Amino acid sequence: MRAHEAGALHADINHRGPSWLPEPRDVNALVPLLWSTSARKNLDGALEVGGVDLRDVVAEHGSPAYILDEADFRTRAAAFRDAFADYAVFYAGKAFLCTTVARWIAEEGLSLDVCSAGELAVALRAGFDPSRMGYHGNNKTVDELRRAVQAGVGRIIVDSFHEIDRLVALTSEAGREAGVMVRVTAGVEAHTHEYIATAHEDQKFGFSITSGDAFEAVRRILDTPRLQLLGLHSHIGSQIFDTSGFEVAARRVLTLHARVSRELGVDMEEMDLGGGFGIAYTSQDDPADPAQLAQEITTIVEHECRAFGVAVPALSIEPGRAIVGPSVCTIYEVGTVKEVALDAGAARTYVSVDGGMSDNIRTALYDADYSCTLASRRSTAAPVLGRVVGKHCEAGDILVKDEFVPGDIAPGDLLAIPGTGAYCRSMASNYNHALRPPVIAVREGAATVVLRRETEDDLLRTDVGPHGGVRR
Ligand code: LLP
Repeated sequence: MRAHEAGALHADINHRGPSWLPEPRDVNALVPLLWSTSARKNLDGALEVGGVDLRDVVAEHGSPAYILDEADFRTRAAAFRDAFADYAVFYAGKAFLCTTVARWIAEEGLSLDVCSAGELAVALRAGFDPSRMGYHGNNKTVDELRRAVQAGVGRIIVDSFHEIDRLVALTSEAGREAGVMVRVTAGVEAHTHEYIATAHEDQKFGFSITSGDAFEAVRRILDTPRLQLLGLHSHIGSQIFDTSGFEVAARRVLTLHARVSRELGVDMEEMDLGGGFGIAYTSQDDPADPAQLAQEITTIVEHECRAFGVAVPALSIEPGRAIVGPSVCTIYEVGTVKEVALDAGAARTYVSVDGGMSDNIRTALYDADYSCTLASRRSTAAPVLGRVVGKHCEAGDILVKDEFVPGDIAPGDLLAIPGTGAYCRSMASNYNHALRPPVIAVREGAATVVLRRETEDDLLRTDVGPHGGVRR
């Protein structure tokens, strides 16, 4: 084995990480596709986002922290709005929602998809117009539905016969009408570049088209004067790069749409194709831009509508990840660094940071790939194969499985992971009683906390054991 200044195990090791991971020519350089548009390395080699040096953010607010690039978020939201100008674009709040983001979404002219009483509460507090909201969920409680009906949510996406019964009772109790869509299971399971079209619709969401349940749901809604049937809804998956899954789904959904027109004499006015548009987490991902997506999806739907002899309904989509995902990076401080020998003389550098699976569960849960960069300085050391891990009591507490990091990475360095806007803060937990990190919006050189860091008091507030758990 040849010695190397960056560490004995650098140069001629067998294990160079996964085949898709190229060794960077400059380990300090950002791969622009993975970062929000304002992210750059400054003269010190430190990472700046929205004109703010992340060393300053950490000095003031601590780490870890989610850094939300406001201009980037607004630009992506506006890009969907403009590309899908003939559609209604519902931002999927499950990806990430707080009152600030709800306001930005309203200001950019988008609608909002919520899927719980909590998300509805946040949106209402932000003053989001309920008539521009959609409400999702396979098991909305009676209370949740009551709140949605009373608030005047524009569309409730119904997911079961029980829910239809509940809505019949609730709309009559409130003396109000409710707009509804029928969520159907198109039998398409889409992941990244592949989709699986199945005959069985073996999942908890939606009404089966093939069994006739979806048709029956439509019939029952049409029989209920207080329920206004807007149309059918289908969502086929998430982190999708290829529109072929949408093609199969659109065809199947339109089969039902056309049957309703033929047999019940009702031309449903709308159709929602859900969200799921993919983003780049590593240099191997190559997502389509909204304009290309809009063009492809519109062509698909128009073509299928012609084939079925039905008018093209008013279309809507629900992107979450593709808007907020790339707008956020997470900044961590390195606590420990360990070189661990692998087979055949190879090594992996384990970099432990001060967060982990409590602020980003996606690697542990979905085997997701991420990337990272040294954020507090420039390094002249050669790259080594690194793995970024958290501080939780679990071997699977991994944030970045494979990435080249500078060979001199050390405690006290700051490390940033891009693409953490979607399903990271929104799926964050208090595992090991970790305090969930703040979300800090950056823009034109200013940093504003939009969600503060949790405190130990926040944790202890829910612990209402005898005498508040305090020993007497
Ligand atoms: N509409 C519906 C009905 C959905 O269920 C979802 C996501 C979306 C829209 C937004 O999908 P997006 O555009 O964000 O892909 N936690 C997983 C993703 C779960 C997606 C759930 N539904 C992850 O971290 O990859």
